[in-house]
Amino acid sequence: MTSILSDERQSDGLPDDTSLLPLLLPSPAGQLTRRAFLAESGTTGIAGVLASAPMAASVAAAAPASSNAAPPSSSSSVALNLRVNGKQHALEVDPRTTLLDLLREQMALPGTKKGCDHGQCGACTVLINGRRINSCLALALSYDGAEVTTIEGLARGNELHPMQAAFIKHDGFQCGYCTSGQICSAVGMLREAGQGAPSHVTADVRRTGPVVQLSDTEIRERMSGNICRCGAYPGIVAAVREVSLMPRAGASRRSRA
Ligand code: FES
Ligand code: FES
Repeated sequence: MTSILSDERQSDGLPDDTSLLPLLLPSPAGQLTRRAFLAESGTTGIAGVLASAPMAASVAAAAPASSNAAPPSSSSSVALNLRVNGKQHALEVDPRTTLLDLLREQMALPGTKKGCDHGQCGACTVLINGRRINSCLALALSYDGAEVTTIEGLARGNELHPMQAAFIKHDGFQCGYCTSGQICSAVGMLREAGQGAPSHVTADVRRTGPVVQLSDTEIRERMSGNICRCGAYPGIVAAVREVSLMPRAGASRRSRA
């Protein structure tokens, strides 16, 4: 038994326990063994092992009771006024806060999703004064006084926005993560198209009159900033097409978004 252990230690080329003990013992009395040192340093690090008992106690006393403790409030917060989903808000925000984080973390409006956080997926799309933007790229402070519409603000009570109803009707989603961004983007897109905004597909919008007839290719192009990982594009296009053809769709779009 002894010889087996002894052979293993010798074979790794390391000195045995007894030769290391003088280096590890903090006091002549020797309360720390090599085995205890290794076990302790594995969980606390060498500094933790070597810290004196009084120092360790004071460090423990100074540590926060819980990692969930609220971060210290920023002294550089600035005032921000926003009208969100028809309701006026007077806010105090860190100037670095994005509109997306403000909506989700500070205003408890988690319907707007964070996908890439880099302006690449469109999951965070909201409407600012009726125009669609990627809220992950927008500093909240830049929109002082603006009117923000999120997915939570599109319905009127129990009456869904026509775009919401069309997405349900045409199965324009699977997991739903991209859906709030898709719907807000589609609402903003129809408004843009109604105002004659050009696209890569429509060569000259001046020839089509004030309202662009949206082919499926046009819808796909104009919605290309919104990615759906589930590939629900056929349903999304069908939903947008249906709403674009609704009677008085332009008036509805203007009044509701
Ligand atoms: Fe904003 Fe992806 S989260 S574009
Ligand atoms: Fe799942 Fe679009 S429905 S990402």
